Amino acid sequence: MTNVLALRSSILGDASASNQLINEAIASLRTQEPTIRIIERDLVTNPIPHFDGDAANGLRQDPLNAEQRKARALSDALIQEVQAADILLIGAPMYNFGIPSALKSWFDYVLRAGVTFRYSETGPEGLLTGKSAVVVLTRGGSYSDGPASAMDAQAPHLRALLGFVGITDQKFVLAEKLALGPEERKASMGLAKDKIIDAFQIALAELV
Ligand SMILES: Cc1cc2nc3c(=O)[nH]c(=O)nc-3n(C[C@H](O)[C@H](O)[C@H](O)COP(=O)(O)O)c2cc1C
Repeated sequence: MTNVLALRSSILGDASASNQLINEAIASLRTQEPTIRIIERDLVTNPIPHFDGDAANGLRQDPLNAEQRKARALSDALIQEVQAADILLIGAPMYNFGIPSALKSWFDYVLRAGVTFRYSETGPEGLLTGKSAVVVLTRGGSYSDGPASAMDAQAPHLRALLGFVGITDQKFVLAEKLALGPEERKASMGLAKDKIIDAFQIALAELV
């Protein structure tokens, strides 16, 4: 059975473009493969605590206090969800040029030395191998070319975070120019919807 972990990180609820695209992806997946198992995690309605000193210590050493134990238990649970998944579906809006802090917090608990990556003689090695990620990027403006591309701290950051833990099969679906008027938004969302369905068809075929 195929396991999908779907992460949402928009602060805009039902008005969210990334949430709408994730909804479309999930509906399409359920039609394509009715037995598919989809675990959904909304990082805004069910937030991961901001990473702090106790969290960092709790993940790096034997926990010394209740806060550190709590952080380690949360990290264990989040990592187990990723380990159980064949495909990650990640909704990642652009806020202030980067990913939402809610999504960054999730990565802060999932990037863990000795568990999801390790340092080897040849450098860092990701340990969450054999998975793929379908990442839905939403943006009000346009950063895919021209001078504004230098301000894109969303796509490169996600590529690096996923790649670092060994998720190198990454399918990025971009919906940009969403704030440039209703027609631009409709066109961009329509294209993204088709691309996300294509991305999943490829991701599911790769599993076979
Ligand atoms: C707090 C905030 C910051 C934003 N910052 C940017 C930005 O830096 N660049 C941009 O192109 N759009 C920006 N936007 C627009 C969002 O990227 C756009 O609304 C997109 O649809 C967000 O995805 P979502 O609808 O799934 O939340 C911002 C929106 C919000 C609410």
